[in-house]
Amino acid sequence: MKIAPSILSADFSRLRDEIQAVESAGADWLHVDIMDGHYVPNITIGPVVVESVRKVTRMPLDVHLMITDPDKYAPEFIKAGADWVSVHPDTCKDPVKSLERIRELGAKASVAVNPDVPLEKVEPYFGHTDMLLMMTVFPGFAGQAFIEEVLPKIERARKLIVERKFPILIEADGGIKTDNIDRVVRSGAEVIVSGSGIFKTPDYAATIRKMKEATNSR
Ligand code: DX5
Ligand code: ZN
Repeated sequence: MKIAPSILSADFSRLRDEIQAVESAGADWLHVDIMDGHYVPNITIGPVVVESVRKVTRMPLDVHLMITDPDKYAPEFIKAGADWVSVHPDTCKDPVKSLERIRELGAKASVAVNPDVPLEKVEPYFGHTDMLLMMTVFPGFAGQAFIEEVLPKIERARKLIVERKFPILIEADGGIKTDNIDRVVRSGAEVIVSGSGIFKTPDYAATIRKMKEATNSR
């Protein structure tokens, strides 16, 4: 299991310190939420900031694009240092092409699945993606309540991937904290994004340790 703190909930006036604090607290990946004010009603950061983030951490950068034109901007984020790029298929003209382009440019590709999107809709991309990003909130804001109903979908996704032997990771994103992470991991997610669940707690190391302990029972 990997923990990927989302910097959206970090103190941006001390971004380097915040990133290095979660890294030394045991975080595995860094989740970077990119919002353009069009696909979602919120604006965050662009490639310039990702480039600076790349310089201050060795953690893989897990870039989650919530923007209307990922085909135009994914190359810029990869150039800036993104290791993983997640796209929402409803923002791609041809999702297979978008995913393959991300791979050609040297990053890992990932399909984001909103809470109301059935698995059947994204199954056609299984052969072209390295990860499924299962949204456990609707994209747009940090600090939203976890949507329980997504858990059975994560379970089915895990079953399908195992049965058909696809080398795909499952990541879960939204509303995950120390008190519900065990259920998310038991459902089959192996990369866990947490924004406010880590950055809004006083001791990042204690929180990440608790998260890892809670899931050891698996
Ligand atoms: C939601 C983002 C999430 C979010 C996670 O649009 O994709 O990554 O920032 O934050 P928490 O863990 O606070 O829900
Ligand atoms: Zn995200």
